[in-house]
Amino acid sequence: MPYQTLLTSLENGIFTITINRPDKLNALNQQVMSDLNEVMNEVYTNNEIKSVIITGAGPKSFVAGADISEFIGASVEEGKALTKKGQDIFFKIEHSPKPVVACVNGFALGGGCELAMSCHFRIASDNAKFGQPEVNLGLIPGYGGTQRLTQLIGKGRAMELLMSANMIDAATALQYGLVNYVVSQDELMNKAIAILNIINSKAPIAVAGCIAAANAVFDETKNGFEVEVNEFGKCFGTEDMKEGTTAFLEKRKAEFKGK
Ligand code: COA
Repeated sequence: MPYQTLLTSLENGIFTITINRPDKLNALNQQVMSDLNEVMNEVYTNNEIKSVIITGAGPKSFVAGADISEFIGASVEEGKALTKKGQDIFFKIEHSPKPVVACVNGFALGGGCELAMSCHFRIASDNAKFGQPEVNLGLIPGYGGTQRLTQLIGKGRAMELLMSANMIDAATALQYGLVNYVVSQDELMNKAIAILNIINSKAPIAVAGCIAAANAVFDETKNGFEVEVNEFGKCFGTEDMKEGTTAFLEKRKAEFKGK
């Protein structure tokens, strides 16, 4: 499906979504947000898609934030509606039953850092820069940044970054646990593809169960251990669990079907 502001490609079950406004450093205007919402519907429903990479077009920026030009003149109610809509879209990414990896290829600022944090994990190129500079604009992060940054790097470090608007480089992001790997820009996509090829060879319903249970840690409305019980139990009703356990005992490689 064509999107106005996104490029998409599907290869070996890996669906790559590239935010494509390089002249504006891939800033998230409302068209990008609407396209992201639509493309996540495609991710949820297209059985050919096993896992997802989100990245930005060009060598300089992943996403340099929400599009600041759209904030001018908005009211309190419009501001709230804007943030709620953004939160819902990023929630859809975070709760995707298929793995979503951010390949951060440059600036990940404001909404860009928030987008990367809504993905299941992050890989950065060595030129990447992370930050929540909203206080420079008289704002706070509105797409889940105050919550996910604190979850990912801890309260003290998050508080400092949120209040100071300081940027951190890729090496610091790695040290903080904000990203899993730092590689050269040339190697960025290959690194993600290598990891996703491994994940895509596993039982998809079990992978989705891991996502649901790990996400439950941060969901006050859920008991994560109960989610684990349910997801574990659900696996016993799948063909893939029978195939995985039988293949192990027969000393052969399991062939999973996602059933
Ligand atoms: N919203 C709207 N436009 C943005 C943008 C954003 N968040 N980030 C960058 N752009 C635009 C710039 O206005 C510029 O457009 P122009 O060429 O039409 O003037 C273009 O992208 C290139 O950005 P520029 O600032 O010239 O690049 P730079 O290399 O000098 O600086 C940044 C890069 C990322 C440091 C700088 O663009 C920046 O600070 N962006 C805003 C970051 C931010 O506050 N994000 C949080 C938003 S809530």
